[in-house]
Amino acid sequence: MINDKKVLFSGMQATGTLTLGNYAGALKNWVQLSDQYQCFYSVVDLHSITIRRDPADLRKRARDLLALYIAAGLDPKKNCIYYQSHVSAHAELAWILNCFTYMGELNRMTQFKDKSRKHQDNINAGLFTYPVLMAADILLYQADVVPVGLDQMQHLELTRDIAQRFNKIYGDVFTVPEPYVGKAGANIKSLQEPDKKMSKSDENPNASIYLTDDPDTVMRKCKRAVTDSGSEILYRDDKPGIRNLIDIYCAMTGKTPGETEKEFEGKGYGQFKEAVGESVVAQLRPLQERFAQVSADKAYLSGIIKENGEKASYFATKTLRKVQQKIGFPARP
Ligand code: TYM
Repeated sequence: MINDKKVLFSGMQATGTLTLGNYAGALKNWVQLSDQYQCFYSVVDLHSITIRRDPADLRKRARDLLALYIAAGLDPKKNCIYYQSHVSAHAELAWILNCFTYMGELNRMTQFKDKSRKHQDNINAGLFTYPVLMAADILLYQADVVPVGLDQMQHLELTRDIAQRFNKIYGDVFTVPEPYVGKAGANIKSLQEPDKKMSKSDENPNASIYLTDDPDTVMRKCKRAVTDSGSEILYRDDKPGIRNLIDIYCAMTGKTPGETEKEFEGKGYGQFKEAVGESVVAQLRPLQERFAQVSADKAYLSGIIKENGEKASYFATKTLRKVQQKIGFPARP
């Protein structure tokens, strides 16, 4: 608890261009939860270097992501929005937690398996221990809740296991976090292959809606989205294309799948796709406008980065010192 509020932690990688999946599965929920909790939202740039990055590009993307958090509606005076690389406690706790995590556990991580298949020339140790760094992120702030999309659930379960294992040996050091998955949008799929998740790294640009897409591009991508045989708008497992579009529509409008089926009863795929596109444009337009304003104000952003980096360091170091003391590292004179 901080100031009588429960603590929330979440983060996103500063890589690629953010997709509607990142928005619907994470960012949108972050904004909705931000009043209830004491929130830490990190731009997780340490996580980004498991794949080779151009330094200037990484720096730019990290800054853009930070500005996007603010543009989406997170007030940086109330929410601690900061760069992970500015708080050295993340890497320090990750090392300690590495010693409390088993190879067998990390071997089971599906994201590690997927990413090693994709980057066979660079299967580095960081890629393997990535979930431990994620556990360190969360446990450093004693987070009660972690809003994520479904693809991160396995990492969250591992975080809970590590926390419980550590607490069993040393007493109640860490809060064991609960995942938070929103009602709609936790698992947005590719528009071209609806059995795959919508991903920043998809090579087919028509598979993903990017948060930077202009209205025409959004409408075109929605119209070209792969749909199923038949013509009815039904939320069913055997209609993965339409089901995904209904998920998007619900995440954008707050409606339920049942309400959406009723709304489009007797209407065709064409009309529905148009409505999905418009619902996305209605969310992205103000986000993009606000993003342009926030990113233009360089002095304001720099102030936020400094202030919030220090705030995050304060809370993170508090936990780190406690952990170091419990383990038996010498006290600082
Ligand atoms: P990342 O950067 O891949 O994704 C950021 C958030 O977006 C969600 N997401 C999706 N949700 C629904 N449908 C999709 N298609 C979709 N694609 C992505 C993700 O679930 C995530 O919530 N390892 C994390 C970042 C991270 C983190 C953390 C998250 C590092 N430390 C601590 C929470 C807590 C990642 O790579 O997310």
